Order: sequence, then structure tokens, then C-alpha cells
Amino acid sequence: MNTKKKEGRYERLYTQLSGLLAKSPDATAQMATIAAILFNKMDYFFWCGFYRVDGDRLIVGPYQGPAACQILEGRGVCLAAVEQQKTLIVPDVHSFPGHIACDSRSLSEIVIPVRDKAGKIIAVLDVDSKELASFDETDAAHLEKIIGLLS
Ligand code: SME
Repeated sequence: MNTKKKEGRYERLYTQLSGLLAKSPDATAQMATIAAILFNKMDYFFWCGFYRVDGDRLIVGPYQGPAACQILEGRGVCLAAVEQQKTLIVPDVHSFPGHIACDSRSLSEIVIPVRDKAGKIIAVLDVDSKELASFDETDAAHLEKIIGLLS
């Protein structure tokens, strides 16, 4: 998808999600709604969902797509994003040391940390694609903005 089309799509989804999430008082319901809308509207999203921080490990939360690993520990892109406290864009998962393959069809990935009001990372949004290099700074900026709707 070219950058212009991608930006337009994300902007429409942000408007839709801000309306839906404003009516939801529950974090799990909000995460489930974000995962469902993104997965169904972004053609290249093969897996889309949340992992919650649980001590040193991550436990899967609301998601859409093929069944995923329930617990991530010790390694992987999601834990690296928590440890480095920043969004990670991985153009080729096979080049990322320690990547955890929940589904061998995933080839590229983006992981965005989710913070509470105090700035502590409490979860991540993880999106996988079946194509190489699907995610770029446009995805990062817009997904970070969408994550900001969580309350
Ligand atoms: N690839 C992730 C694991 C989660 S799945 O992609 C759904 C990782 O390396 O942390």
C-alpha cells in the first residue's frame, strides 16, 4: 500500500476508533475493538493484537488472526520493544535474533509499547504481515496515535 493510501486509511480508522473507544469504559474492550477494526480494515495485517506485561513475561490479550503464543518470555520482538521502551519495526523477522515465530507465515512485524498514564509500559500492540517490509514510519506514527486512545 502506498504511503498516501495508508495515511488516508489510518486517518479514517482513527476517527472511527475514537468514537467507539470513547463509549467504552474498559481497557480489554478497547483493545479488542482496536484489534478487530485494524485487522479487518488493513489488508496487510495478518495478525494484530495485544500482549500484556506480566512481570518478566508477556501474556496474550485481545487479538485477531491465527492462534498465537499465549506466553512470550526470554526473547522476541515484543519483549525487546518493552526492554528498549520504543516502537520496533522489523522488515524481516528472520533477521531479528530471538524472534518468536507464533506462525511461520509471518515475515515482517511492528511492535508498539502501550503506556499507562504514569508512562509505565503495561502492554504492546503487535502486528504481523505475510509480506517482507510491510511496516514503516507511517505505520509507527499512526499506530502510536491509535494506541493513545486507550484509557
Ligand atoms: N513475533 C513475536 C511473537 C508474537 S507473534 O508475532 C503473534 C515476538 O517475537 O515477540
